[in-house]
Amino acid sequence: MEKNIKKIGVFTSGGDAPGMNAAIRAVVRTALNYGTEVYGICRGYDGLINGDIKKLESKDVSGIIQRGGTILQSARSKEFRTPEGREKAYNNIQKFGIEALIAIGGDGTFTGASILNQEFGIPVIGVPGTIDNDLFGTDLTIGYNTAMNTVVEAIDKIRDTAGSHNRLFFIEVMGRDAGFIALNTGIATGAEDILIPETVTYIDDLILRLRQNKRKGKSSGIIIVAEGDDAGGAYEVARKVKEHDSTYSTRVTVLGHIQRGGSPSLIDRVLASFLGYQAVIGLYKGKSHHMVGRINGETVFTDITKAIKGHHEIDREMLELARILSI
Ligand code: F6P
Repeated sequence: MEKNIKKIGVFTSGGDAPGMNAAIRAVVRTALNYGTEVYGICRGYDGLINGDIKKLESKDVSGIIQRGGTILQSARSKEFRTPEGREKAYNNIQKFGIEALIAIGGDGTFTGASILNQEFGIPVIGVPGTIDNDLFGTDLTIGYNTAMNTVVEAIDKIRDTAGSHNRLFFIEVMGRDAGFIALNTGIATGAEDILIPETVTYIDDLILRLRQNKRKGKSSGIIIVAEGDDAGGAYEVARKVKEHDSTYSTRVTVLGHIQRGGSPSLIDRVLASFLGYQAVIGLYKGKSHHMVGRINGETVFTDITKAIKGHHEIDREMLELARILSI
């Protein structure tokens, strides 16, 4: 290894995601393997500010690869937004002798890591951990696959009762700014329609498609609504549809935080292990202010600013595919 780093810090921040524990485990064991001490920072930036930091040994990450959530816990820190808060955070980094940081999380986490790096020069590597899959520079983010499996399982169950009662179900999935979960789970469950933030939703078009379905004898259905869709959440869309045609028997299910929990899938465990390992290797190779990702099986380091700001595009053809197959 080119760079000799004696101590690194690792933390999780923002919304938790299944597989974060597998990433922590990979960071700890990779670093220990190369003779670097690892400090676990609890509750993200809050823990950094308050000095809630503990040394992690190999046994501390035993039996966690299959566990959802994050053993280091997570938070969205208000204090870190102030220069005083960040000063405290940096003082603790120095106090513990931490020479570099690995931040596991999404865009908010990376924004904080970028500021730390720019204000104090501490090397940082981001590991993409969010169920939203909305970061540029990686095909998949940690937790996305598991969250989608959870959604598919739930929708399959709702499909049974929707059919029995001839009902139209509006199912809200997570995704404040991104429709990845909605689009892929919509295809996987044969949803009648999928509403996502990346495209403009026209309620009239939705009504038209529902009417066509009705004429073909399809009287029940599943409409997936990403929480950030421009037409509003699932309740709002259901209300608008009912306003147009009161004959529909409608129901709304908001899947909510069930999507963030649970044992990580095989894909998330392997991805998290790989990215955790590569993050440490990246630090040894002198990388900083980068997010580590995996694209077509290759390790890719993307500048953190680009990872946050660059848009991970929705595949428009998949939308077309969903439309054709739901006829
Ligand atoms: O960033 C992940 C995410 O799950 C979003 O899709 C969702 O809008 C948000 O977190 C909700 O987070 P919280 O309830 O923690 O504020």
